[in-house]
Amino acid sequence: MRIPGTTPHLRTPRTLLRPFRPDDVDGMIRCGKDPEIVRMFGGSPDFDEPVPMSRDEASAWFEHVTADANPLHWAVQHDGRFIGTARLHGVVEDDRRARYAVGFHDRVVLGRGLGLEVTRAVATYGFTVVGLHRIDLRVLAYNTRAIRCYRRAGFVEEGRERESAFVDGTWHDDVIMAMLEHEVAAGR
Ligand SMILES: CC(C)(COP(=O)(O)OP(=O)(O)OC[C@H]1O[C@@H](n2cnc3c(N)ncnc32)[C@H](O)[C@@H]1OP(=O)(O)O)[C@@H](O)C(=O)NCCC(=O)NCCS
Repeated sequence: MRIPGTTPHLRTPRTLLRPFRPDDVDGMIRCGKDPEIVRMFGGSPDFDEPVPMSRDEASAWFEHVTADANPLHWAVQHDGRFIGTARLHGVVEDDRRARYAVGFHDRVVLGRGLGLEVTRAVATYGFTVVGLHRIDLRVLAYNTRAIRCYRRAGFVEEGRERESAFVDGTWHDDVIMAMLEHEVAAGR
């Protein structure tokens, strides 16, 4: 497998995936906190409308993402602005497998096909450059937007973990999805 020493730049028609940089703190503050997005990540927000993110919260987030030595962890930029993150993590070299995670923090960009572009780019990079055989992911069953995006990119539903997440006082299932190296063309 060919895991790069530093985070590579990946371009899609409308996004740039790049290493994190200090002004992503300002980008994260601009995104703020949206209750729907928090729920899609499995959180239980105590607010019903978007609320601002403090500089302390954004700085703590930045420290957390930059403490990750994984080079396959990207900041996603659109129209020159930070909008979210994507990563391949949990790489198992012997099995040539990894797990995919993506999330936008800016609600105005949701549902415009950017997630599909990013997912296709990361999957293509993972299979063709890194040499992965399998990329899998888990997604909350109620996150239908994400599931449709992953399906369009070529991920296949493999199963369901029942009541594996407790969100807003209710148990929810996780859906397990995966793509294999020979399936990447299907997501193009
Ligand atoms: C998941 C995510 C990356 C997908 O990116 P996106 O740009 O929003 O998705 P896309 O526009 O590429 O595709 C969305 C699909 O869902 C559909 N969709 C759009 N809005 C929707 C909504 N409110 N509910 C259900 N489906 C919706 C779109 O029509 C599209 O499906 P189609 O191609 O079959 O028509 C993004 O929504 C996101 O970051 N969400 C918040 C965090 C999150 O959920 N992260 C994933 C955790 S596993």
